[in-house]
Amino acid sequence: MDLQNLATIRNNIKTIPDYPKPGIQFRDVTSLIEHGEAFSLAISLLTEPFKNAGITKVVGTEARGFIFGAPVALALGVGFVPVRKPNKLPRETIDETYELEYGMDTLELHVDAIEPGDKVLLVDDLLATGGTIEATAKLVRRMGGEVVGASFVISLPDIGGEQRLVEHGIECHYLCQ
Ligand code: PRP
Ligand code: ADE
Repeated sequence: MDLQNLATIRNNIKTIPDYPKPGIQFRDVTSLIEHGEAFSLAISLLTEPFKNAGITKVVGTEARGFIFGAPVALALGVGFVPVRKPNKLPRETIDETYELEYGMDTLELHVDAIEPGDKVLLVDDLLATGGTIEATAKLVRRMGGEVVGASFVISLPDIGGEQRLVEHGIECHYLCQ
């Protein structure tokens, strides 16, 4: 990536030590989205590799995946599908339980939001263990969608998320490490 663009992204992400638990270096993207130019750049860079990939839906995972996923969907001219924490979606859902860097969680998808043959781009702010996006990909695949790739603002390289996702057939794109 262009070094100036990389600097704009990196310089606008704050690191909070020991949040939400001791030992976690929390990479905070709220500082990035508060900066209009950096937010807009992030959306362009998240979208760029998938412009000609025939994407039909963007799926974003609650909550920070919504912030980046919805503008990426608009940039690609396709619909946005939210994957949510339990009991938030009103229609019939399927669910997957997964492990986080700091706990367990369950995610749900509306059964009619992904159709067989949909070409899906997954979007989230950050890749850590890969558990969130692996669970999201499982939900999409259970409905017959094809996961074309996953686009993140940040990948934490020491935790092994990228390798885990690649092993599950998910191509990863990220803006910084
Ligand atoms: C964070 C982050 C990613 C996920 C990454 O979300 O926004 O979705 O963790 O971790 P993983 O690769 O180990 O799964 P979190 O579950 O904290 O939810 P939030 O966006 O609602 O804060
Ligand atoms: N989600 C999981 N790990 C995280 C981290 N280190 N910073 C921000 N969000 C996260």
